[in-house]
Amino acid sequence: MSELIVKAEKLTKVYKLFAEEIAAVNNVDLEITAGDFISIMGPSGSGKTTLLDMIGCLDSITSGRLEILGKDVSAMAESKLVNVRRGKIGFIFQDFSLIPTLTALENVQLASYFAGNSQKTQKLTVFLEKVGLTHRANHLPKQLSGGEKQRVAIARALATQPKFLLADEPTGHLDTENSLEILNVFKQLNQEEGLTIIVATHDQRLGSQTKRIVYLQDGKITPS
Ligand SMILES: Nc1ncnc2c1ncn2[C@@H]1O[C@H](COP(=O)(O)OP(=O)(O)O)[C@@H](O)[C@H]1O
Ligand SMILES: [Mg+2]
Repeated sequence: MSELIVKAEKLTKVYKLFAEEIAAVNNVDLEITAGDFISIMGPSGSGKTTLLDMIGCLDSITSGRLEILGKDVSAMAESKLVNVRRGKIGFIFQDFSLIPTLTALENVQLASYFAGNSQKTQKLTVFLEKVGLTHRANHLPKQLSGGEKQRVAIARALATQPKFLLADEPTGHLDTENSLEILNVFKQLNQEEGLTIIVATHDQRLGSQTKRIVYLQDGKITPS
């Protein structure tokens, strides 16, 4: 049996805004095993980011149960959550979040350093190679296309040697051609390296190419 990466039972997140309570994620049951490539789809406001943030141990949960990499994180303090995610979860965001004053390779190097890895700079080019960007190692983010920036962000996530990748709307700021580039990188990482990838997206082209789709509506999983 494959290793369980995520196990959510009646997972719920309620945001309180003045007198109003919003169940951004509402009683979600979800299991994700090693090697999966899954997209979480749904309209804007359906709870994709909230669900991803809980899975990524970036946000606390309101009720229910959540196990990440075999650890029950349901009641874990923020200070402990850091240890669950650091070096184990690779994050990719819509806006790339690269450091503008660092080159592609330096962005990768910084992430590797903070994950506690002590690889030599030259060794780190292997992560740029995995996303087909060896020739852009010394370029600054502003010298790269959107798709290339996102590929650097993927290389940076890989450099932390994570157990799984979480990508929130990774093609949200990209045109069709660049989106396909990113999709192909994910597919390759999943197929060739068996990397588990969880993507939140409203991009049907991306979603339709993953192994599995979970649809969210008003914080609930809807039957597909
Ligand atoms: N920090 C927050 N405080 C209050 N409400 C929030 C917060 N983050 C998200 N929400 C609300 O939770 C719901 C789900 O949001 P979100 O998870 O961002 O959805 P999606 O990523 O699918 O667009 C929305 O109604 C949103 O307004
Ligand atoms: Mg979102």
